[in-house]
Amino acid sequence: MQHSANSPILTQHGLHMPKLGLGTWPMLGEECTRAVEQALSLGYRHIDTAQAYNNEEAVGQALSNTDVPREQIHVTTKVWWDQLQPDAMRHSMERSLKALQTDYVDLFHIHWPTPDMDLQRTLETLASFKEQGLARHIGVANFPLALLRRAVEELGTPLSAIQVEYHVLLGQSGLLDYARQHDMVLTAYTPLARNKVSQIPQIQQIAAKHGVLPTQVALKWLLDQDNVAAIPKARSQANQLANLGALQVQLDDEDRALIADLPKDQRQVSPDFAPQWDVFDR
Ligand SMILES: NC(=O)c1ccc[n+]([C@@H]2O[C@H](COP(=O)([O-])OP(=O)(O)OC[C@H]3O[C@@H](n4cnc5c(N)ncnc54)[C@H](OP(=O)(O)O)[C@@H]3O)[C@@H](O)[C@H]2O)c1
Repeated sequence: MQHSANSPILTQHGLHMPKLGLGTWPMLGEECTRAVEQALSLGYRHIDTAQAYNNEEAVGQALSNTDVPREQIHVTTKVWWDQLQPDAMRHSMERSLKALQTDYVDLFHIHWPTPDMDLQRTLETLASFKEQGLARHIGVANFPLALLRRAVEELGTPLSAIQVEYHVLLGQSGLLDYARQHDMVLTAYTPLARNKVSQIPQIQQIAAKHGVLPTQVALKWLLDQDNVAAIPKARSQANQLANLGALQVQLDDEDRALIADLPKDQRQVSPDFAPQWDVFDR
């Protein structure tokens, strides 16, 4: 495993993805530009956006303003579920690149699957972005295990990553095992369960024992896991710094046992267009 100044780097499938990134939803406009610039100045080198967040232009502005060279920053974006026909996907990709003021993204995800998508054509179009160099890597988000299996094994799509909700209150062992077997990254979104982790007595207890914050315990639990990246969204400098500080926290077996015993079925993100989720697993 390589390291940058602030974060270990994931290298699955030739990726160069810092394990700790910055989520940008639901920040917009200047507020988003400021938060991303600030994060880059603090040492973040992994930014997560999506066309549906309506903030790619703001992220692009930060990429343009910063002194950090583009090639040192991992940028992920995503295509929304109503744009999965080949032409619509290509337009979405063009709009994303223009808004982000870049010739390529490091990782391009299908944001959500839909029941009526033509999986083969969608994934062929996704793969074409990689072949054309518009996306260095491709991935999917919110795919249940059976659909991910079809994408990888039946259709042979060279996926480097899957992005799903994952935190101390939601198990993802099925997808994580699969990601590890296929040398893929699993990016944990909503990794703080929208800061609900701070209210969990067991997390508070572990945090007090180490003299750190509950959010840092929750993040480090994710970041300690092989193949896992996490993209907490934080606006203020204090929270961005605190989340970077999670990298220094040392959890022990007793801490991990306490976390393993927490409920693992507390999903925070399940819009009405979500797929049928896998039966909850630890
Ligand atoms: N692929 C998908 O379908 C999908 C779905 C959801 C999210 N995502 C991505 O994942 C990112 C993160 O997920 P999320 O925003 O849902 O949830 P999250 O990262 O679990 O929680 C964000 C909330 O936690 C607060 N926070 C951050 N650091 C903190 C700290 N150190 N102490 C206390 N509070 C802290 C933030 O407040 P402040 O901002 O005020 O600091 C914000 O209110 C999104 O921004 C997005 O990029 C992807």
